[in-house]
Amino acid sequence: MAPISLGPSPVVVGLDIGTDHIRVAQVKPVGGSFMLTGYAMVSVPMGAVVEGEIVDVEAVAASVREMVRSSGLHPRDCTIGVSNQKVVVRLIDLPYMERSELQGAIQYQAQDYIPIPIEDAILDFQIIGDYMTSTDEHMMEVLLVAAQRDMIGNAVRAVEEAGLRLQQIDVTSFAIVRALMGASTSVLPDEADEAGEATGIIHISAGLTNIAVVEKGIPRFTRVSALAGNQFTQAIANSLNLTFDEAEDLKLRVGLPDINQHGQSDFPSDIDPVRAQTAQDALEREVSKFIAEVRRSLDYYLTQATQVRTIRKILLTGSGAQLRFLAGYLEKGLQAEVKLADPLSWIQVAPQAATLVQADRMGAVAAIGLAMGGMTT
Ligand SMILES: Nc1ncnc2c1ncn2[C@@H]1O[C@H](COP(=O)(O)OP(=O)(O)OP(=O)(O)O)[C@@H](O)[C@H]1O
Ligand SMILES: [Mg+2]
Repeated sequence: MAPISLGPSPVVVGLDIGTDHIRVAQVKPVGGSFMLTGYAMVSVPMGAVVEGEIVDVEAVAASVREMVRSSGLHPRDCTIGVSNQKVVVRLIDLPYMERSELQGAIQYQAQDYIPIPIEDAILDFQIIGDYMTSTDEHMMEVLLVAAQRDMIGNAVRAVEEAGLRLQQIDVTSFAIVRALMGASTSVLPDEADEAGEATGIIHISAGLTNIAVVEKGIPRFTRVSALAGNQFTQAIANSLNLTFDEAEDLKLRVGLPDINQHGQSDFPSDIDPVRAQTAQDALEREVSKFIAEVRRSLDYYLTQATQVRTIRKILLTGSGAQLRFLAGYLEKGLQAEVKLADPLSWIQVAPQAATLVQADRMGAVAAIGLAMGGMTT
């Protein structure tokens, strides 16, 4: 006999807590892929999350509760992402050992690689692969994750106070990679990729940019930068002496100039052209800094990498990636093919989730990847 159902069956949802928005996504596996079965988002009170860190636990918990209530979803368990300066991901090479042995050894080894005192950190690791050196030493590559305990504590408390059970904590950039590239390497549309090439991923949101480098579907490098959408807005506010909200409005409407249309600006007719030009100039300066920052990260990766020598393709995501003509600037500045990436291009979307997620196509990626991660463990 089938068990008696007490309402909707509990499912795992992905919860993405950001500076501007909290998002929830629910997925289910279908065939070799996924279907998005629920989606919602809510604004975060100003200052409750700063550069990816929850500072006001109560306010975040209240927002999560409100979002879940109004979403019509009935999640019990959730998986959350963390992404801020207090999470560090490092690819390290160690002499080969069994997984069980590594578990113990990593505690002693980790401090050499991470800037957080080991006693204040929560550690996790993933074995990426093993190889023989030219001198016949058996080595292994390990992706080490260290997160500061206090920061994790706030995230856990916010979720629990919202009435959810925390099933898993993930690194947000891993979730972004998963949502864009598939849950496992077997579904990777990667066959055309030549050996020695990596893909860069840039996810721009309000308070943070997540930069990642992926090889054969596996994230091998990730870093966050505080140069993101809010900084672009702030640069406009400073240059025109505007409030943040006024500058935000101007940013969305003016964007960057089209680099292929030298000197030909087409501003909305109700905006004073001098003002629009000043805003664009401020944005251009900020985007130059942004490009330099991304390039530093990618160059760092390339100097560390043993085999890969080029990053020819970059996937651009996050709400902030919608800045008009940004992709063209990045393409030129980073000397790579830059494409706007969209998780909805390879997963199915159930009718009840379609309207909400389509309105947030670029912003949805982390929540979707977190939900997928919750399914696959
Ligand atoms: N059309 C657009 N053009 C330029 N920027 C945009 C556009 N739409 C949204 N943004 C920017 O995207 C940012 C909001 O992104 P999002 O809601 O994903 O942030 P978040 O997930 O809350 O923050 P974070 O993850 O960084 O803590 C804002 O800076 C906003 O200005
Ligand atoms: Mg975000």
